[in-house]
Amino acid sequence: MGGSSGFGAKIAETFNELGSKVWITGRNINKLKKVKSRSKNKSSLNYQSVDINDFYNLKKFLISLKKKIKYLDIIIYCCGTNIRSDFNKISSKEFNEVFNTNFISAVNFYKEIFPLIKNKKNSTRVINFTSIFSNRTFEKRTSYSTSKAALKMLTKNLALEWSSFNITVNCISPGPFLTEINLPVLKNKKNYKEFCQKIPLKRFGKVDEIISSVLFLASDDSSYVNGSEIIVDGGWTIK
Ligand SMILES: NC(=O)c1ccc[n+]([C@@H]2O[C@H](COP(=O)([O-])OP(=O)(O)OC[C@H]3O[C@@H](n4cnc5c(N)ncnc54)[C@H](OP(=O)(O)O)[C@@H]3O)[C@@H](O)[C@H]2O)c1
Repeated sequence: MGGSSGFGAKIAETFNELGSKVWITGRNINKLKKVKSRSKNKSSLNYQSVDINDFYNLKKFLISLKKKIKYLDIIIYCCGTNIRSDFNKISSKEFNEVFNTNFISAVNFYKEIFPLIKNKKNSTRVINFTSIFSNRTFEKRTSYSTSKAALKMLTKNLALEWSSFNITVNCISPGPFLTEINLPVLKNKKNYKEFCQKIPLKRFGKVDEIISSVLFLASDDSSYVNGSEIIVDGGWTIK
């Protein structure tokens, strides 16, 4: 979920190149089409426009998916949004939008997707995109930080409850990367430079630099990794 840009798009292209049959979602159909057009094995990359916060829309997609495929081996919850605002200024509507996209809709999604992964012989790998802000506070990030912390605890609780179904659930917490979600920071050069000063490696991550963590958590090499978090942040959280 969330495969129309940034990490999700790159992950979809990578798995497609490796021969997997991939389904991606996002709201923006043009962005989804572009990911398909860039893919090497076009017939194996499928997309569907889904607003994750519209439960009817999500359910309709999953019903149609269940008709097309019998099982899923790897599930990645990569959709996310960020509204940067002081807690005292953010509206309830905005706070709910961030919380719904980053956490509540993940709950709804996993409740609905479970039938596609519960009775499999081989293992299923579930990966959630959390954030370094699930571990750290930061100005204007209360909605984002609390929603990602909730997603991290969902990861750990599902890892516990689903282990008996041969399902592992882990998360990746990126630091700042060069993707759409950071455009408000990237567009402001002063802000961007200030951010870089907080990172021991003094730069934002490139999308390619997340892929090895995803491939590890999706592979048999991570068979004994469950309920864990991989932090990929250029060293931000060691300070
Ligand atoms: N980049 C970073 O620095 C960073 C750091 C920490 C964590 N993360 C997390 O990594 C994940 C991927 O982010 P990214 O950096 O790749 O940013 P991105 O390019 O903005 O990707 C966000 C994805 O989420 C989808 N999305 C957002 N709201 C949605 C909704 N209501 N319904 C369906 N899809 C929705 C977007 O699709 P549409 O636009 O088509 O709807 C897009 O595919 C997010 O969970 C983000 O919080 C990123």
